[in-house]
Amino acid sequence: MTGPQANYFIVTAALLILLAGESAAWRRRRRTCSAVNCQWGPWTSWSSCTTQCGSLGTRTRTRPYSPAASCGGAPCSGSNFETEECNRFCPNGTPSGAGCDCSGTGFTGTCCDIAADVDECALGTDTCHDQATCANTPGSYTCDCNSGYTGNGNSCTDEDECALGTDTCDENAICNNTPGDYTCTCGDGFNGDGYTCTDDDECTLGTHDCHEAATCSNTPGGFACACDPGYNGDGNTCTDDDECALGTDTCDDDATCVNAAGSYTCDCNPGYRGDGNTCDDINECDEGTDTCDDDATCTNTPGSYTCECSNGFNGDGNTCTDIDECAEGTDTCHEQATCTNTPGGYSCACDHPYTGDGYSCSASCSDLYPGLRPARNFGKFRNQCFWSPSHRTRKLNYTKARQECGSHGGAGALAMIKDVETQNFLRNHLKRTSGKTQKSFWIGLDDLNDEHDFKWNDGTLLGGYDKFRSNAPHKIRDCVVLWRTRKVARWEIKNCGSTFPYICQLDGGS
Ligand SMILES: *[C@@H]1O[C@H](CO)[C@@H](O)[C@H](O)[C@H]1NC(C)=O
Repeated sequence: MTGPQANYFIVTAALLILLAGESAAWRRRRRTCSAVNCQWGPWTSWSSCTTQCGSLGTRTRTRPYSPAASCGGAPCSGSNFETEECNRFCPNGTPSGAGCDCSGTGFTGTCCDIAADVDECALGTDTCHDQATCANTPGSYTCDCNSGYTGNGNSCTDEDECALGTDTCDENAICNNTPGDYTCTCGDGFNGDGYTCTDDDECTLGTHDCHEAATCSNTPGGFACACDPGYNGDGNTCTDDDECALGTDTCDDDATCVNAAGSYTCDCNPGYRGDGNTCDDINECDEGTDTCDDDATCTNTPGSYTCECSNGFNGDGNTCTDIDECAEGTDTCHEQATCTNTPGGYSCACDHPYTGDGYSCSASCSDLYPGLRPARNFGKFRNQCFWSPSHRTRKLNYTKARQECGSHGGAGALAMIKDVETQNFLRNHLKRTSGKTQKSFWIGLDDLNDEHDFKWNDGTLLGGYDKFRSNAPHKIRDCVVLWRTRKVARWEIKNCGSTFPYICQLDGGS
């Protein structure tokens, strides 16, 4: 039923209901008939609006009698139904006539209740963020942040995958965040697309900058340079270690260290033999490589040797010449021996009449002075030979006796008695050679040149010692004798022309 047809139906029905009620009340009133006034019951609900949407519809409501008038009661006044304009809300548009104006709502239909699929995304009317993807939906759209962005779609912010660790870069790559994405770049020393990076072997590639005296070793993402043994430095610059100066060499103490590039050499010093680390002294003397003279003694020393001329030779050891000890007077031959030079030495032979080994020679006074006899009348005192004559020896005057003593060599003179020891010696000597015979013997003392200035035969003046018998003055008697008895021995001044036995004094040799 359309709107107007329904209204007519409702009115008709209501009239039929009123007629039926009047009839019943009239019948009851005929029977009992007490008057009942008509009263209205409550309104029904409004009917539906005659239009579904828009503003030009009507709606009605009714009310029943409750009760209806009977038995002459008063009827109800007024209508039992009402009609009013109505309109329906346009949820997706604005009421317009009998319908809704849907323009711009995305809906269609009279009531704008049919969603019209407007592609906001295509129209660009969406509110999605620049970095969101707009997806049209029936009546609407959705916004989803693009990969690499996060947010609700209307607002999207870049995800820092690098910071979040959600990137897939190689561990040896550098992650670089970009709007909505990231890039991977292999780090220095690595090669690849950023997602897979392989280590560059700079050492093999020759792209390292190690010093030529350094060893390159590959490391992840780089290389290391280490100066070779014997060099010092950071690997990029290596300087040769002077092991010799540093004292880090292993050269023997007796070797010479010579620095070399990256190393050093050890050379055994002259006089040593070995590999430089160990040097042994060469014994030149044993090996015969010395330059010593044949007449020198070679003595090995650390690293060398010395040559020392043997005894009796002179020189620097390399050249030795025989020393003529005899000529130089360095021999130890006895003075009464003859020195004879020999290679490296000399020999000594006692001169006649001396006997001995040449270094010590001796001769008896009688051997020395064979012209004075008897031989047994010699006596030796302080290396002086004293000789006294026998009773057969001719007596001589002073001058002649002195000449006789001096005629046998040996610095012969008459005996010079300069001290008591000599005096005592001669006393005993005469006691042995002349027995108990009392005699006077010339001794070498006179004042022939200056009266009263006695001088010994050797020219020395009479000293503090004398044995004069008396101090009696003398005029002619200018020569002195030793006068002896068994008990005493004194000096007496005699006439030099007188003849007496005499005592000679001669060198005793040595
Ligand atoms: C000593 O004797 C020699 C000869 O025997 C004689 O010629 C000389 O004149 C004498 N002298 C004195 C001083 O008598």
